[in-house]
Parts: sequence; C-alpha cells; structure tokens
Amino acid sequence: MQQSELDFIHTLRQSSRYIEQHRGKTCVIYLPGELILAIEPFKQLTQDIGLLHHLGLKIVLVMGATPQINASLKAHNKPWQLHQQFRITTTDMIPLFQQTIGMVRSQMEAIFSQVNNQQANPLTLISGNWVIAQPKGVVDGIDFQHTGKLRKINHQAISASLEGKQIVLLTPLAYSLTGEVFNLNTLEQACEVANAIQADKLMIFGNPQQMSNLPKQMSVAELNHQLYKTNHPEQARFLTQISQTNAHVKRVHLLNQTEPDALLQELFTRDGYGTLIFSDRYHQLRPATIEDVGGIIDMITPLEKQGILAKRSRERLELEIQNFIVVERDQHIIGCAALYPISDTTGELACLSVHPDYQGQSLGKELLKAIEQKAIEQALTRLFLLTTHTHHWFIEHGFELKTIAELPEKRQALYNFQRQSKVLIKPLKM
Ligand SMILES: CC(C)(COP(=O)(O)OP(=O)(O)OC[C@H]1O[C@@H](n2cnc3c(N)ncnc32)[C@H](O)[C@@H]1OP(=O)(O)O)[C@@H](O)C(=O)NCCC(=O)NCCS
Repeated sequence: MQQSELDFIHTLRQSSRYIEQHRGKTCVIYLPGELILAIEPFKQLTQDIGLLHHLGLKIVLVMGATPQINASLKAHNKPWQLHQQFRITTTDMIPLFQQTIGMVRSQMEAIFSQVNNQQANPLTLISGNWVIAQPKGVVDGIDFQHTGKLRKINHQAISASLEGKQIVLLTPLAYSLTGEVFNLNTLEQACEVANAIQADKLMIFGNPQQMSNLPKQMSVAELNHQLYKTNHPEQARFLTQISQTNAHVKRVHLLNQTEPDALLQELFTRDGYGTLIFSDRYHQLRPATIEDVGGIIDMITPLEKQGILAKRSRERLELEIQNFIVVERDQHIIGCAALYPISDTTGELACLSVHPDYQGQSLGKELLKAIEQKAIEQALTRLFLLTTHTHHWFIEHGFELKTIAELPEKRQALYNFQRQSKVLIKPLKM
C-alpha cells in the first residue's frame, strides 16, 4: 500500500470517534458575507457542510451579507452611517436590503443544489420568519431606525425543521410583530440562536484580524482576559459579542474565514484547527466578598492541617478578603487564591487551592491566570510565592525556584525557617 493510502486509513480511524460523538448534535455555523463571496472555497465549504449533515449533525446556518450590502448601497449611491460600529438602516434602504439578501440567499441555494447533486438524498435548505425583531432604538441620541435586535426566536419551529432533516438558513432580515422589516447583526443572531436552541456547537468564521493571535483553547474566563488584553478594536468587539452570548452553548469554535477547510479539521481531529472556547456554566470565577470567608475556611482548613497551606485566622481572612478571588459552583466555594502587593513591582501569590473534588479540571490554572492578570492590572512585574508541597506544579506554570535572598526584603524578614518553604518567582509579561 502507498503511504498516502495508509495516511488515509489512519486519518479515517482517528476521526471515527468524532463521527460517533457528533452524531445527532446541533451545530450553528456563522458564515460572514466575505466567505460567501469567495465562490470556489465556498463551494468546498458547502460540500463539507453537506458531509456534516450526512454524518448526522443538525445544521443551522446564519449568513452575513455585509460586503454584498455595502456594494449594493454604493451602486445605488446611498451612503450609510455607523454608530458604535453598527449600521444605521434607514427606511429607504430596506428594499435594497431585501433585494441583496434575497440574491445572496438564492446564490447559496444554487450552490447547495449544485455541489450536492451526487447525493442520494439531496440537501434541502429552509428559511423562514423564525426570528422576531425589535428596533435597536435610540442610542446616544442616534436613532438606529430599521437596525434591529433579536426579540424572540421560534426555536420550536427551528428544531422541527432540523428533526425533518433540513438545513436551517437564517439571514440578516427579521420581522417585528407589527410587520416591519429589520436588519440584524448576524454574529449576534448566530450567538443568540445557538443559545436559544441550546446548540452543542457554535462554529464562527472570523476575519484574520478578529482571529489574530488567539490561543487554541480558552475557557470563558480566559476569553474575558483575552478581551482585556487585545489591542485590536475589531477583535475586542468580536470577542465581546461571543462572551456575552455563549451561556448555553458548550463549545464555541472560532475559525479563520480565509481557511474554510478548517471546519472539518476542527471537528474531526484531536487538536482541531481554530480556537475552542469551552464554557462551564456551573462555575464562576470572581473577586471574593466578606460572605465568602466561611466557604474559604471550609476549603482551606484541611490543607492547613496537613501543613500544605500556612494557617490563617478568620479575622485575618476577613481583613484581607479584598486580596482574594474565588471559584464558586452551585453557591459553594470550590477554589480560591490571593494576591498581596508587597512592593511597587512585586506581588505575593498565596493560598491557591482547589477543592479535591474539583482538581484536575484546570481550575488551578484559571485561578493562577486570574491572579497574574490582577497583578498586571496593578502594574506589578513579578510574582512570588512560598510553597511546601506544590513547587513542581508552579514550575510547570512558568515559575522558577529561587533563593530567600531574592525575595523582597520585607518578606525575607518574615520567612518562617521552620516551614522551609520553597521560593518561586515568575516575571510577568505585560
Ligand atoms: C495545586 C492545585 C491548586 C492545582 O489545582 P487543579 O485545579 O487541580 O489544577 P489544574 O487542573 O490546573 O492542574 C492539574 C495538574 O496538576 C497536577 N498537580 C496537582 N498537584 C500537584 C503538585 N503538588 N505537584 C505537581 N503537580 C501537581 C495534577 O496531577 C494535574 O496534572 P495532569 O494535568 O498531568 O493530570 C491543587 O492541586 C491544590 O489545591 N493543591 C493543594 C493546595 C496547594 O498546594 N496550593 C499551592 C500552595 S500556594
């Protein structure tokens, strides 16, 4: 057998468990207008979407049409205005919107018919008035007119179409209960629809700026850090929209629209291709409040008894609670960590702990990242900690073993020689 044939067999074997995993799952795919404009790659993507459908995934497509609408408005000499990056849709633009979006939808239907004509059961695309809109309204004194926002989704009708083995297509147009036509932001719509139908996956194609330097995986908490860090306003807007609306979607996958082949790779390979955002809506990472003291004590007392954490009195905890962050799940504290600023440049990480029932789920890593972020926000450039049992974990997370002499002087004086804690230091990257 030739190497290419062996590679094929290997890949098929590798992907078989994902085929099994995804069968029957609901997947919302956001297709920006730019992606639909690139005819040949889009035909390939259409074939891939057809493949997903035949493998048993239930597919909802949400199409954008921004460049097509821009071109149409330009051709008809109709300038437009943006406010907070949203287009203001005037009444006289609506017929052009209907015409342009109708045209894009028809092109998509034609491509679906063409590329899937070899299939025994050809795909059917279906669209309808499932999204009820309302005016976005007057913002900062500016009337958005026919720019709408989503009011309600007839998710039962969408689910019924999916059960009927049809691919659901949503366009930027939606209607109010008074029969008015509204232009909706389609990324927002994709996120909200995915939430409303409790989709298993939301696949979002973004442009290279929106995707620039994103890590391969992020928890929702990490997404919020990324949002804070980014210097690209377009990326910040993109991530903000996603972070606001993914409460019920377990997996959000971000893919680069210049590489539509990534859709299959993301779904059927272990490492994927784009950026995966995973949400665990059962836990929340947040600053601690005085009400959390009892929960923190319950969690750290066994560790203090084992000598893993230094003893802290309730009074001290109450006084220092503003230094703590906690992870809460179902109203229980299941993780905590504290940051003590020691000098203008250096902070101490202390009391990092995760309840034994929840260890190994990256909560420790999330807490550490949040503390690092907090330290950076306070313009600190170095983080240190003292630990008796856990230095390997910290070394794996970028800390280095140092000597007592490298601690800030103030902290050297308080070093407890009986505990013989190891000193670890990490420089912080801005
Ligand atoms: C250290 C601790 C916070 C990690 O929390 P967590 O949520 O389990 O962390 P993560 O899920 O991000 O990491 C888990 C990994 O760390 C490893 N790990 C846990 N404790 C470790 C230790 N003491 N030394 C080395 N590795 C350790 C786990 O084996 C696991 O490895 P794996 O991913 O290869 O399976 C948690 O184990 C804990 O609360 N320990 C007791 C308190 C403590 O020692 N705090 C530090 C003093 S400030």
